Amino acid sequence: MADTNENIITLKPDGPMVCRGDITVVNGEGEVLLKDHEAWLCRCGESKKMPFCDGSHRQADFHDAGEIHDQRAEELDDSSGPLLITVKPDAMLIISGPVMIQSADGRFRTQRSRGALCRCGRSGNKPFCDASHRRD
Ligand code: FES
Repeated sequence: MADTNENIITLKPDGPMVCRGDITVVNGEGEVLLKDHEAWLCRCGESKKMPFCDGSHRQADFHDAGEIHDQRAEELDDSSGPLLITVKPDAMLIISGPVMIQSADGRFRTQRSRGALCRCGRSGNKPFCDASHRRD
């Protein structure tokens, strides 16, 4: 059973990732873009309101079932606390803080305290970044 203070990122099929918990999103300069209990972040790379989903995935040819293939997990001493998400310019989202990432069907969950998440839609290891954003 999930801790109610837990940060959770849920992948949406063919769409964004929904972050719930104590969420702060900052840009590469550290300016706060959002501080809230919920953030819908683009995974397709087509949003005009990056890093947030604006619904453009519906027109984009973005297909991802929202599975998690990298099944490594961290053992965290404390799964509560804020989650900081840093938007790297023209690159990934860096997560810092305890978070449970769960597949769209809810069957797989992985706990992390740091990591890089794809927001260009091209990673072969979604939801994680595999540096595919560097490809032309
Ligand atoms: S996932 Fe919604 S605009 Fe990219």
